[in-house]
Amino acid sequence: MGLLIKGGEIVTAECRSQSDIYIEDETVSLIGRGLHVPPDTEAIDATGKLIFPGFIDPHVHIHLPFMATFAKDTHSTASKAALIGGTTTFIEMCCPSRNEDALAGYELWKQKAEGSSACDYAFHMAVTRWDAKTEAQLREIVRDGTASFKIFLAYKNFFGVNDEEMFETLKLAAELGVITTAHCENAELVAQLQQRLLAEGKTGPEWHEPSRPEAVETEGTSRFATFLEQTGAAGYVVHLSCAPALGAAVAAKLRGVRLYVESVLPHLLLDRSYAEREGVEGMKHVMSPPLRDKRNLAVLWNALRAGLIDTVGTDHCPFDLQQKLLGAGNFTQIPNGIPGIEDRVNLMYTHGVKRGALNIHRFVDVLSTRPAKIFGLFPRKGTIAAGSDADLVIYDTDYRGTISVATQHSANDYNGFEGFAIEGRPSVVMVRGRVQVRDGVFVGEPGRGRMLRREPQYGARKAAQGEMTHGG
Ligand code: URP
Ligand code: ZN
Ligand code: ZN
Repeated sequence: MGLLIKGGEIVTAECRSQSDIYIEDETVSLIGRGLHVPPDTEAIDATGKLIFPGFIDPHVHIHLPFMATFAKDTHSTASKAALIGGTTTFIEMCCPSRNEDALAGYELWKQKAEGSSACDYAFHMAVTRWDAKTEAQLREIVRDGTASFKIFLAYKNFFGVNDEEMFETLKLAAELGVITTAHCENAELVAQLQQRLLAEGKTGPEWHEPSRPEAVETEGTSRFATFLEQTGAAGYVVHLSCAPALGAAVAAKLRGVRLYVESVLPHLLLDRSYAEREGVEGMKHVMSPPLRDKRNLAVLWNALRAGLIDTVGTDHCPFDLQQKLLGAGNFTQIPNGIPGIEDRVNLMYTHGVKRGALNIHRFVDVLSTRPAKIFGLFPRKGTIAAGSDADLVIYDTDYRGTISVATQHSANDYNGFEGFAIEGRPSVVMVRGRVQVRDGVFVGEPGRGRMLRREPQYGARKAAQGEMTHGG
């Protein structure tokens, strides 16, 4: 049976229009005014509301064994939190450690999500070591529809890869036409600086940032870009946090390197002073790359507006207060990460669109359309068009609220954005035509989410040819 959404204003990355939407068989079937639909069609009244394409979070951690513990969410809790906040698809980092088998890890992550996630999902496959067996397994994983890799230049001896492993990974990525996402911090410098600070008795969370200064991220970003250039692979820098690293990424883009840039919610709204708070208050805000000096925030927003930053994710990574306290007396042991999957859309709408920092079409672009295009989900996801999945967010711009741990749905006992105002929230959220959320309450089918299989889309390009690209 069909479903009609009437009276709302559709807003996509390109345009806005007062149109009705008719949905059949999980997809958008017709868009227009005065649509002729069967007389008994169920209707949702969206009068006075905006209708956005379902938002896509391109960077989340849900199942994550990391720093001697596990992130708190399950696929059930994280996906419901995502949906309540308007995110209808997430791409999770599948991260077996360097001592684990890549394929066994991939199967484990898939098993955790299947039947548990209430929204659609895909994976970035982490490459945490390189050998013949891993290479063969990666080929199989790409054939299974996971068309993006993840490498960590940080986290020495756990997730981190060395330069040789990065080169081999990128060579394979170029051959297979998959994109490689990368955490860009120089692992050796971090390890050395951490030891130096600890030896000086500097043990609190306020020393996390000085142990991974901007130069460490800039070096990683620049090195990743150089390796992309020499292998002809396509790449995506995750959670870029500061002006000098952005400079390195933009310089690479200008050289014709196929490089996309993501920033994440914490780096756009929080600064290092949060991590400099006393005790566990500071620990809540320890993530990597770290929260930076305030001057970087305006640069990131300007870059977002100008199109130099392509996407905004969350890097959702919830560790609770007890876990954060594992690093009491030694900042290097504080589990890294800040949750945010539920709050990205509302905070970006409020602090971006409402405050005049981001045009509403660019807002849709960075939170939905660009992630869909970069990661091979477009036009199935990331837009509202005939034939696209009916993943829709009917948005109430009159809503007023405050972010709080007391009302959040992620399985964590703090929220890094506590007290932030929101001016707008999803009224109705649907996944492939099924209403999953109404006004902050999950009302849908708990296991509705499907794994999205993607085709490689980054055909081999001659290495280091220095040609300009237009984002393709
Ligand atoms: O601090 C962070 N970002 N934790 C999650 C793991 C990662 O590096 O993305
Ligand atoms: Zn990372
Ligand atoms: Zn991450």
